[in-house]
Amino acid sequence: MQFDKPATTNPIDRLTVVGRPIRRIDGELKTSGRAKYAYEWHDPDIRYAYGYPVGSSIAKGRIKSMDTTAAKKAPGVIAVVTAPEIGELKKGEHNIARLFGGNEVQHYHQAVAVVVADTFEQARAAAVLVKVEYDEGNGVYDLAQAKGSAVKPDDSQQPDTAVGDFDAAFKAAAARLDETYMTPDQSQAMMEPHSSIAAWDGDEVSVWTSSQMIDWWRTDLATTLDIDKEKIHLMSPFIGGGFGAKLFLRADAVLAALGARAAGRPVKVALPRPFVANNTTHRPATIQRIRIGAERDGKITAIGHESWSGNLPGGPLEIAVNQTRLLYAGASRMTAMRLATLDLPEGNSMRAPGEAPGLMALEIAMDEMAEKLDMDPVEFRILNDTQVDPENPERPFSHRDLIGCLKLGAERFGWKGRGTPGARRDGNWLIGQGMAAAFRDNLLVPSGARVRLDKDGVVTVETDMTDIGTGSYTIIAQTAAEMLGLPFEKVAVHLGDSRFPVSSGSGGQFGGTCSTSGVYAACVKLREAVAKKLGLNTQDVSFENGEVRSGSRSVPLSEAAGPDGITVEDKIEWGKLSETHQQSTFGAHFVEVGVDRATGETRIRRMLAVCAAGRILNPITARSQVIGAMTMGAGAALSEELVVDTRRGFFVNHDLAGYEVPVHADIPHQEVIFMDETDPMSSPMKAKGVGELGFCGVAAAIANAIYDATGVRVRDYPVTLDKLI
Ligand code: MOS
Repeated sequence: MQFDKPATTNPIDRLTVVGRPIRRIDGELKTSGRAKYAYEWHDPDIRYAYGYPVGSSIAKGRIKSMDTTAAKKAPGVIAVVTAPEIGELKKGEHNIARLFGGNEVQHYHQAVAVVVADTFEQARAAAVLVKVEYDEGNGVYDLAQAKGSAVKPDDSQQPDTAVGDFDAAFKAAAARLDETYMTPDQSQAMMEPHSSIAAWDGDEVSVWTSSQMIDWWRTDLATTLDIDKEKIHLMSPFIGGGFGAKLFLRADAVLAALGARAAGRPVKVALPRPFVANNTTHRPATIQRIRIGAERDGKITAIGHESWSGNLPGGPLEIAVNQTRLLYAGASRMTAMRLATLDLPEGNSMRAPGEAPGLMALEIAMDEMAEKLDMDPVEFRILNDTQVDPENPERPFSHRDLIGCLKLGAERFGWKGRGTPGARRDGNWLIGQGMAAAFRDNLLVPSGARVRLDKDGVVTVETDMTDIGTGSYTIIAQTAAEMLGLPFEKVAVHLGDSRFPVSSGSGGQFGGTCSTSGVYAACVKLREAVAKKLGLNTQDVSFENGEVRSGSRSVPLSEAAGPDGITVEDKIEWGKLSETHQQSTFGAHFVEVGVDRATGETRIRRMLAVCAAGRILNPITARSQVIGAMTMGAGAALSEELVVDTRRGFFVNHDLAGYEVPVHADIPHQEVIFMDETDPMSSPMKAKGVGELGFCGVAAAIANAIYDATGVRVRDYPVTLDKLI
């Protein structure tokens, strides 16, 4: 199905199942421990072997020699597969650093060998015995140092935009801000580390893994192993979080496949937690310069945003200026992104790449600018709203209600406007309030699904869509139930298997809208097939209460299915609507903090998010997404930072003891409000992405609240206590 016209009334609009607060199907499986994650797949008839990786102890250079004699003699060891012996492997399309193979070392903890043994403990013990000698090269590991050598990447990454005469407008502005902000390297820090089991059967391999994007992994694994994609069966039905770290094939799957081939047995490989930060991906650090010029009345006349980030050669930049191209009006504007070569591990997508670090800077800048203008920060944002893409004024937004979010948020939060910093106290606590706008693009990715109607009246949906804890199983079941007029319980959903049609996968907050739209498309086709089978005109039939109805005739779906059932497949493809209309989601975050007067410790007291993201398919799962995202915002503001050893080139705090993410005790009160809206331009579901929106802007709202509490403006995240005293 091609989605190229705004959606008209369709069966989803009935909202008998969609839009309802239905608890997630997989909730009980997860809380009772019965949901099997990648590493847990277990067939009692199989003697699994266990692989333990050996990581490079240098960040850049070459492997000179490797001695595996002692490791091979260690108890229980079956095989040692080394990168030099395997030789250079082809690289998949999506991963930047080589995952395994050859003598070149591109980053610290790159896998250089995998030791396979009868037990996990034996493999781990033997891995220590692998002796590696390196020729160590000189790397660059510090963004601040490399910034001067950063270059403009090719046009495919859209590094620059310019409208009007920014320099002249900025110079002429009555009020001006010119500040630089810094965001650190961050780790996705998902609960489940990357894990895979590989089992060969002749030249075919089955891989149980933890992947957000089944087809990307399968394609890139095929390239890396140099085998036909059809020979790989990939399964990832449950995922213990991804946050971008599992978008692209990682070393665990490659090591499991090569280890299993060498051992002649199925092999399990989980990346040890201390490997995750340096062996996989992270969000790259940024340095961002923002300039805003405005008239005395608060109208922005010039807005400029430059961002620097670093990556391995061939790696992408962090698109930190994206929101600045779209969020506020202003006749003269410029954005620019520059990319430095760094020899750190691969930088890539994490939790709303682009907008998340971009808004961390922009929304402090907006707070500072409002203060310069002596304006309320909510009012300042409302005044500078735009209903069109400010870089292409003939392009409207598909739907945009930033103002509604700001107003409702201010009202529900009890926003009093900024007072004198440091003036409000509660005992030893300095109390402050802060706010920020939220913005995240609504990305559209083709998505397929297969649906089958059985003679017992059950509909089964199959798609390679993943559920990374987001609620995909549930909203997909809701979609099929609504489309076919069935109770929710009459729909079975199977996900995360490469034998199913290729879906959008989970990433960039596109999974919810795109995967359900694909299911919608398949269900439209199934409705047509049912009508045709009954000799009815599709236009005249309705699907309700488990029956197909036309005029006075009604047939139970179980009967309509016939003894063999009906199976159809379709996918949603996106036409030009997202080119003619800018598709984005909007919101507002409000936060109250207390900062200890003596120690500088910040405690969040309450948080409110208002989200405008089209139709909300399930308020429970959507709310869970948003409160999780707000919690990540607390981490980004207050604690999350991968500390770079700029001499040796690695992330020092590479575990969950040193890389601090928020816990329950850090988050006392959260409220989420969804704007009651639909966006017919976005999808037949009239929904948009919402998960990442909940994250975008939160950190700046917290930083602004800390400023309100203390009068200390910190522009270098995270806002730790040492920066406040
Ligand atoms: Mo998201 S960072 O695209 O998984």
